[in-house]
Amino acid sequence: MNAIEFTDVTLALGNRTILQDVSFAIREREFIGVLGPNGAGKTTALRAVLGLVAPRHGRIVVLGRPPLPGNPAIGYLPQVQSQAAGTRLRGRDFVAASYHGHRPGLPLLGAAGRREVAAALERVGAEDLARRPLSELSGGERQRLLLAQALIGRPRLLLLDEPLISLDPRHQTAVVALTRSLQQELGITVLFTAHEINPLLGAIDRVLYLGLRQAALGTVAEVITGPALSRLYGMAIDVVNLNGRIFVMSDGHDLEGSAHRHDEAHRHA
Ligand SMILES: Nc1ncnc2c1ncn2[C@@H]1O[C@H](COP(=O)(O)OP(=O)(O)OP(=O)(O)O)[C@@H](O)[C@H]1O
Ligand SMILES: [Mg+2]
Repeated sequence: MNAIEFTDVTLALGNRTILQDVSFAIREREFIGVLGPNGAGKTTALRAVLGLVAPRHGRIVVLGRPPLPGNPAIGYLPQVQSQAAGTRLRGRDFVAASYHGHRPGLPLLGAAGRREVAAALERVGAEDLARRPLSELSGGERQRLLLAQALIGRPRLLLLDEPLISLDPRHQTAVVALTRSLQQELGITVLFTAHEINPLLGAIDRVLYLGLRQAALGTVAEVITGPALSRLYGMAIDVVNLNGRIFVMSDGHDLEGSAHRHDEAHRHA
């Protein structure tokens, strides 16, 4: 069965078309890296899968049904996590707040809820971190708790929006490896957005690359190529393989690398 099907889907926000007549199918138990430049529509596509953005045209099917907001079969880690960075809430309470349909607040958990929270924390190896306030944790440590939060409710589909942002390369690798092992142990489908393909190499099954309102889905070898990316960027792209890393180059600039630096500049501004 397919986990996600887009058939001739057009997504728009206000009067801006984000994706136009896009079709692809993601199979169950695939780990998909979702890439594309800033503004390509990665977050919007995830929000459409969640049922938070309705297609203007075409059809979306998620786990055999139309998208439905609040679907407990989907775990979601949103891109913006400023809330998590500032809170004095202990990690465990933050994760527990997701129990019972992702409702905010601090529910009093019964035994089943406590077991589920403990199991999610154990899965990501965050039992000790969970005793500390989120505001005291490093970006990578916080990301582990956010992953635990997304696992609450035993989702069959995980949507992780930019879990690598603000992490150094070592922590990026750790988060990708953790996600891959969770995905395989639990037998679930994962969509994982990122700005750069390199941290995902060797972990993902296929890439969904967005750009210029279009999408390309395939293996890294199929999609990360000069011709395919030139279409999605609307300019001549060279793909350079060097020491097991991939560089997406235009006119001598590394596009994915510079997108990342752009984020970092924003963060420190
Ligand atoms: N309410 C809105 N009305 C019109 N355009 C919007 C609205 N919200 C977002 N957009 C635009 O939609 C486009 C797609 O945004 P989206 O957040 O999906 O991109 P993204 O690929 O996730 O980008 P990033 O890499 O920066 O996270 C952007 O150009 C954004 O400016
Ligand atoms: Mg985004």
